[in-house]
Amino acid sequence: MKINQRLQLIGDLVPLSSYPLDIGCDHALLSIYLVKERGFQHVAASDNKKGPLDQARKNAHIYQVDTAIDFILAAGLEAYQPGIDVVTISGMGGLTINRILLDHPEVLNFIDTFILSPNNYSLAVKRNLVKFGYFIQDEYLVQEKNMTYPIYVFKKGKKHYSSKTLFLGPVLATKLNDPVVRTYYQKQLQETRQILSHIPRSYYQRRHQLKKEIKWLEQLLD
Ligand SMILES: C[S@@+](CC[C@H](N)C(=O)[O-])C[C@H]1O[C@@H](n2cnc3c(N)ncnc32)[C@H](O)[C@@H]1O
Repeated sequence: MKINQRLQLIGDLVPLSSYPLDIGCDHALLSIYLVKERGFQHVAASDNKKGPLDQARKNAHIYQVDTAIDFILAAGLEAYQPGIDVVTISGMGGLTINRILLDHPEVLNFIDTFILSPNNYSLAVKRNLVKFGYFIQDEYLVQEKNMTYPIYVFKKGKKHYSSKTLFLGPVLATKLNDPVVRTYYQKQLQETRQILSHIPRSYYQRRHQLKKEIKWLEQLLD
């Protein structure tokens, strides 16, 4: 089956022999891909709206994988079922993803791996996961149309990151040979310079932070 590059990479990162839950599944193409293309026999797909979930069920029926997918109408981690050890969340804002985790911290005891692809506020997501006792195992960028989406694989385990390392991305910063990654940092540098030029001098702390970020990006790209 054909799915977009972003969903396919997320699907390919789900460890075999895990029991994954896709929160905010919408069309459920990710779950269908896991069953159809990667041989998963049991996956869970949830959404907090009935409409998308009904469509998801129809799609699973079309692909003849309905018996392998549990469809759950629930908000965030309320969809958790015993045995689930991997959670994917993509196509949502970073603050929504953080809210989902903060609302049910007790569920995190059972989740070994989070594969997250926030549309924005990715630094806030990284900070939150590290605070909850996960480390960044891998980081990817996927370009689709004019957008660049980050994909993070977080594994259970404590690791300390400096502000600079977390900001740049401990793994992503080692992938500068990839033109997509280099362009991403260059764009980030341009945007940060642009933002700084619009911040009044009286906003000392904000300006100080932005100047630090500019320095980190310049050093990396040097
Ligand atoms: C833009 S779609 C993303 C679909 C798919 N995950 C992807 O990456 O293409 C976001 C979906 O998340 C659902 N959603 C938003 N907030 C949610 C929450 N707190 N819990 C579960 N689903 C949520 C929406 O109803 C919608 O179907």
